[in-house]
Amino acid sequence: PYPTWRRLRDEAPLYYNEKFDFFALSRFGDVEAALSDWHTYRSGRGSVLELIRANIELPPGIILFEDPPVHTVHRKILAQVFTPKKMNALEPKVREFCARSLDPLVGAGRFDFIKDLGAQMPMRTIGYLLGIPEEDQEAIRDRFDEGLKLTGDGTDLPTPDMSYSGDEFGEYIDWRAKNPSDDIMTELLTAQFEDETGTTRTLSREEILTYITLLTGAGNETTTRLVGWAGKVLAENPDQRRELATDRSLIPNAIEELLRYEAPSPVQARYVANDVTYHGQTVPEGSIMVLLNGSGNRDERRYPDPDHFDIRRDVGRHLTFGYGIHHCLGAALARLEGRVALDEVLQRFPEWEVDWPNAVQARTSTVRGWETLPVHTG
Ligand code: HEM
Repeated sequence: PYPTWRRLRDEAPLYYNEKFDFFALSRFGDVEAALSDWHTYRSGRGSVLELIRANIELPPGIILFEDPPVHTVHRKILAQVFTPKKMNALEPKVREFCARSLDPLVGAGRFDFIKDLGAQMPMRTIGYLLGIPEEDQEAIRDRFDEGLKLTGDGTDLPTPDMSYSGDEFGEYIDWRAKNPSDDIMTELLTAQFEDETGTTRTLSREEILTYITLLTGAGNETTTRLVGWAGKVLAENPDQRRELATDRSLIPNAIEELLRYEAPSPVQARYVANDVTYHGQTVPEGSIMVLLNGSGNRDERRYPDPDHFDIRRDVGRHLTFGYGIHHCLGAALARLEGRVALDEVLQRFPEWEVDWPNAVQARTSTVRGWETLPVHTG
């Protein structure tokens, strides 16, 4: 998409797509300003183009699809238990999982960044955070993937399935309620919150299920794609990869640059709640605005030589995790997972080349990346 996005930034900073009837902003400053202005740019009808168009009622509690004041209440509840400190405490477990996945592949001559690592790691990590027993994690992930699939052809919609009672996850919540631990699930079950009516109470089983659906829906595929991008981009930049393998203290900045360079979630959408004008052209109330954060990250108005990948770049703020009130709640976790995965790969495989004939791109309208990324490790 990058050459197209560059043309949009240069030639049509406010772009209108007649066929599908939506507007788009592509410059860093415009995308950032729009993401900050939730009064105008609303998420309550969904933050995916197909969802806003479908004009359907969305389940409550999915903060991605909410506006203030309800968003503020729900976000506060989640932010209270889902802290960067708790996320960072997972590092040893994430590391151990990566080591367990990669050790058997040493000497095999090849591995797959997605199938052998990226596909499982995010669910495992969320599983550790929630205290879900390892043997139940797979079944739970399949269930969530099923409920949140979006193929991008516009015919199917993400319809989060809330009817979990009786299945593995509902059973897990009930079990955890009787067997408290030091995990986030125990906290969600016991903590007192002030709800939107001002009443202080604990969360219901349904509400907890909704929050967990949200976390896994928002945090799984995106992070899987980040791992795939690490494999591709570093295969294309072998000198920088070698530098990273010898000086691993550069890894956190390399992940930040990777996030900027290849945003796994490069497009957000909003419902326009009042008329706005750009460059003399009015976007009428009721329109759909597509915000190309992936394009903003490559805006030459913001970054020198933006199409150059540079692990030493002073990246500063990028738009990969969004901006404003919906800024990614799992950003610290995603950074941790990216950093640990890359570190563990480099320790075992300092050299690799992509096996292009067998690499497959992922096709969804919301997330961009690789479905499989096999590499030869020499
Ligand atoms: C929100 C990207 C990982 C949980 C967002 C948004 C973006 C994003 C762009 C804002 C959406 C909008 O403005 O409409 C990413 C990327 C990730 C990642 C690229 C990985 C590389 C995660 C993880 C979790 C998570 C690991 C949790 C386990 C959330 C939640 C929100 C969110 C709960 C909603 C926040 C709100 O609406 O207030 N993410 N995310 N994300 N993300 Fe992430």
